[in-house]
Amino acid sequence: MPSVVLVGSQWGDEGKGKVTDFLAEKADLVVRYQGGNNAGHTVVVGENEFKLHLIPSGILYPEKTCIIGNGVVIDPAVLIQELEYLASRGINTDNLRISERAHIIMPYHKKLDELIEESKGDAKIGTTKRGIGPAYMDKAARVGIRFIDLLDEEEFSLLLDRNLREKNNLLTKVYGVDGFNKDDIMREYRVYAERLKRYATDTSIVIHDALKGGKNVLFEGAQGTLLDLDHGTYPYVTSSHPIAGAACIGAGLGPTEISRVLGIIKAYTTRVGEGPFPTELREEVGRHLQDIGHEFGTTTGRPRRCGWFDAVIARYTVRISGLNSMAVTKLDVLTGMEMIKICTGYRRGDKIVNDFPASLKTLAECEPIYEEMPGWQEDISSAKKFEDLPIAAQNYLKRISELAGAPISIIGVGTRRTQTIIIDNLF
Ligand code: GDP
Ligand code: IMO
Ligand code: MG
Repeated sequence: MPSVVLVGSQWGDEGKGKVTDFLAEKADLVVRYQGGNNAGHTVVVGENEFKLHLIPSGILYPEKTCIIGNGVVIDPAVLIQELEYLASRGINTDNLRISERAHIIMPYHKKLDELIEESKGDAKIGTTKRGIGPAYMDKAARVGIRFIDLLDEEEFSLLLDRNLREKNNLLTKVYGVDGFNKDDIMREYRVYAERLKRYATDTSIVIHDALKGGKNVLFEGAQGTLLDLDHGTYPYVTSSHPIAGAACIGAGLGPTEISRVLGIIKAYTTRVGEGPFPTELREEVGRHLQDIGHEFGTTTGRPRRCGWFDAVIARYTVRISGLNSMAVTKLDVLTGMEMIKICTGYRRGDKIVNDFPASLKTLAECEPIYEEMPGWQEDISSAKKFEDLPIAAQNYLKRISELAGAPISIIGVGTRRTQTIIIDNLF
């Protein structure tokens, strides 16, 4: 029975939502295992575009069970808004299940996210200011409030008291801003608890039973390898673990239960927020990719920085997440270019660097080594199989697969479900 983990392989926004939606047709369960509403996953179905932040992209199929796992941090107000948004678009969300162990984003997390960013000045991370970092900080500090605690009024009140004592001190004495009023939060969060309690369950059991029953389970990652708290461009990262290994922790299953890992990787590279980006194109070509690829953040609307495909990153993500294969997305965006560059490695002084460095100082001294390939002019947006692609596009894909060290299972040639070339069926 296959269980597939789908992971972002660059700095996020690789098209995980689209590929999840595509693969979800054959899955019985779709599970989010980390991140929160810093994620923005766009799915296009026919003429309709859906933007999802917390709810797995499988929700667009009414019969699939969708799970928000324990590793996710949930802003209940945003979740309710998303449920209402989906209802208004005619999508049934009855099959959603939320882990009782997932942590809850509180108003002070959002405030602190803003204040911490401001206080950093030029060293800011460029976070989404959704309270993600501070919520994970509390989880690690063992003072977080979980979904199960939100549902228990007495427990919630006690935990809120303890948290507000510390947070209000921090807000008023360190940051010099107003603190939060307990009654206001109690009132607001009681409403959320009432609205969301029907979805609460031990989701690890649901996943385990599904796997035991031979069902197909798809794990939908958020963010990407280089935003991983341990393996990304620290400190310019998110506060969770987008890599494949995190699916086990964030959903509650063992590594022996995972059958395949699929890396979602764009045919070029993008990044939102601050931090290093070796193949970034600041001039015309970058703007062209931004324009043709509609590279603007789904969550914050910020323009995404664009650059050439970086095989050092691809190799890194193949290693860190143990990718069995890749889904290369947005190949169509490269159509019309005379020539396309691929970064095969970095040059640092007189040394060649083939592995992604841990030190940002070292990374800043690295110059990409480029290989040029001829582009193609033909419209590829209705290609149905690999052989339909122009030879130059086929060669480009073969080369990035060779450099990355992983085969390609899926190719994206447009935003729609139908604009997907399948080389290898995952389920
Ligand atoms: P995610 O966060 O990884 O789910 O990616 P986003 O949804 O934030 O950003 C990817 C964007 O690219 C979305 O607007 C998708 O509709 C779009 N997209 C996904 N795959 C393709 C593709 O193969 N071609 C084109 N042109 N657009 C794509
Ligand atoms: P999806 O799932 C792209 C980036 C932010 C910032 C850094 C930390 O759509 O690929 P945070 O709010 O998480 O503390 O911000 O991480 N970031 C993303 N960039 N796609 C995402 O999600 C992202 N989620 C967070 O821009 O640089
Ligand atoms: Mg996104």
